[in-house]
Amino acid sequence: MKISKSKPTVKIGLCGFGVVGQGVWKHLEEKSEEFEKKLGSSFEVAKIAVRDTAKKREINLSPSVFCKDPLEVANDPEIQIVCELMGGTDVARKVVLAALAKGKIVVTANKALLCFHGKEIFEAARVNGGHIFFEASVAGGIPIIKALREGLIANRFSLIYGILNGTCNFILTHMEKEGQPYEVILDEAKRLGYAEADEELDVDGWDSAHKASILGFLAHGKWVSTDEMLVGGIRNITQEDFAYAKKFGYSIKLLSVITRDFEADRLFINVQPTLISRRKVLANVDEVYNGVCVCGDVVGTTFYMGEGAGQNATSSAVICDLADAVSVLNGSKHPLFSGEISPDESNEENTLKVSTLEEVTSKYYIRMVVKDVPGVLAKVASVLSNHGVSVASVLQQEGNQEKGASIVLTTHKTTEQAIQEMVKDFEITESILSSPVLLKIGEFED
Ligand code: NAP
Ligand code: HSE
Repeated sequence: MKISKSKPTVKIGLCGFGVVGQGVWKHLEEKSEEFEKKLGSSFEVAKIAVRDTAKKREINLSPSVFCKDPLEVANDPEIQIVCELMGGTDVARKVVLAALAKGKIVVTANKALLCFHGKEIFEAARVNGGHIFFEASVAGGIPIIKALREGLIANRFSLIYGILNGTCNFILTHMEKEGQPYEVILDEAKRLGYAEADEELDVDGWDSAHKASILGFLAHGKWVSTDEMLVGGIRNITQEDFAYAKKFGYSIKLLSVITRDFEADRLFINVQPTLISRRKVLANVDEVYNGVCVCGDVVGTTFYMGEGAGQNATSSAVICDLADAVSVLNGSKHPLFSGEISPDESNEENTLKVSTLEEVTSKYYIRMVVKDVPGVLAKVASVLSNHGVSVASVLQQEGNQEKGASIVLTTHKTTEQAIQEMVKDFEITESILSSPVLLKIGEFED
């Protein structure tokens, strides 16, 4: 894809030529002249690593451009920018570290990689003079990394929350609006290229957690690991939950919430299916869209929305990084992306602690199917009272001996610790027939 010989050509290596890799190639090709005019440089995709070089692809290129070993791309002295678009955390980590060890610029869309190995990767960039760019790793096409690092640099962030997974939002939207079955919509999300190779990362909340960890690092200088978060997914939500949500004026969204208490010097990240009032903008962010609300002490509340997954949105973000990479090659420095000013090195890293579950409170919706026999409500009440959980409302729907009856409870504010322990108790209570569905009740001021 040589655009011009008269201007400097930047050689790129792609590790991965799937949904995202092919999208990046396509848009670089289609807009080559525009990029050259805007950036003063042209791009040449010099080498592409894939697992299966014989695979038939959306885009047909000369076999000579492909190789099987992504380290060959990372170590190629001709390649200045290495795009890691493979996914996974093992080979991807080796490739990124190898490229950074050579002082190269790395662009990645891999949120799991950054969540698990971000600290090591930033350090490798610092030590070897490389750069790591990762705009596509959070919220697809929304330039949220740029917003936090550049546009909102004047701010401290007490709260960042939003929808960070396109696949889950696509599923929830189609379940809610069209009553389609979960499995059917998940298959469609896979076909459209939204879902991760391992779809459990999406539907069980882990992908959102990886992204929230990156936002937490950018906003607060601390990598919070997924085992320090409260993470839930959307698998057990049913049409019954949507019916209750509608009745009370809510939508159900998988929300990631990053809360910073500056006075107590505490940080907490949770990813949970959440009831959110339909009056809120976020409740109306549907389909594959993501929406992120960032509350800054100087700017106030800002809101960002755009497609959160898929070939085009993600390619847009990767190409944004390629443009920044060209600036670096032309001599400008990005202190964060070169690991030179890592928020990790600030004082905050030494004192900022992750909140414990006893320190965080929330209101909840709990739905469970119970045996339709006398005394069940009393058993439920005793579990609630054992954990000090105060009930705000109870709804019981008439059931039958065979299928049982649904009970829907909402709680007053309760610690996360009490709620989690209470759910574990419900799970082993004999008269409760299925795992309770737990939805957080989202209360956001703006
Ligand atoms: P994908 O369609 O599954 O493509 C992955 C590509 O990487 C394939 O070309 C595959 O080769 C190649 N690959 C995987 N492991 C490899 C290895 N060990 N050696 C060589 N090549 C290898 O995945 P994708 O959807 O493009 O996602 C790529 C990355 O972007 C992931 O980190 C994902 O989380 C992230 N991301 C995706 C989206 C999205 O909407 N899809 C959005 C944002 C971020 P073969 O083709 O030969 O199998
Ligand atoms: N699987 C991810 C999602 C891709 O659905 O949001 C974008 O990161």
